[in-house]
Amino acid sequence: MTSKNIVWHDHKVTKQDRSSIKKQKPVILWFTGLSGSGKSTIANAVETKLYKMGKHTYLLDGDNIRHGLNKDLGFSEEDRIENIRRIGEVAKLFVDSGLIVLTAFISPFQKDRDQVRNLVNDEEFIEVYVDTPLEVCEQRDPKGLYKKARAGEIPDFTGISSPYEPPKNPEIHIKNDEVAVEECVEKVIEYLKEHKYI
Ligand code: PPS
Repeated sequence: MTSKNIVWHDHKVTKQDRSSIKKQKPVILWFTGLSGSGKSTIANAVETKLYKMGKHTYLLDGDNIRHGLNKDLGFSEEDRIENIRRIGEVAKLFVDSGLIVLTAFISPFQKDRDQVRNLVNDEEFIEVYVDTPLEVCEQRDPKGLYKKARAGEIPDFTGISSPYEPPKNPEIHIKNDEVAVEECVEKVIEYLKEHKYI
């Protein structure tokens, strides 16, 4: 709940001012998908590409945020909701600073992703669905977590013992098991160009 006696201050330098010097429009590129789907890899590669194009970006990544800002949160439904809520607020601040923000979180619930979408203006949220089938993620198992989850060593593991709700209408749909990372990156960059973010 918002405290009483707190007044919002508008700033003189706007987000348009902050971003126009980089010839970019601030936006959140919200990558969502199962663990091992490739969202961090793709988000990293997109950020690298944007950096080389001279754009000002920031990447918020699941494991890293859970080491700091959200280290008090686990993987219950309640904690995941709070995880995404806080990340949404941080992403909103970065959008206000004029950045292209990339986020890579499982963010399993549509309602929570929609809540972040509603925090910013319509054109400031792009949902990127990294659609890799569970079987493929489980076969990749880069951190050995699926194996542990199947053995019952990790409770509430997404896709195994905790749900994942695929996006209904993502702006960008990536089938990561069918195409190379470079192609996924191109798809995102093309979208940004086509819609005049860069
Ligand atoms: S969420 O659902 O958005 O709050 O999750 P997120 O903050 O993205 O964190 C996902 C990473 O945490 C590791 N991990 C788990 N994932 C899913 N379920 C359970 N129970 C779990 N426990 C630990 C896992 O390494 C995830 O990383 P990625 O990069 O997605 O593989």
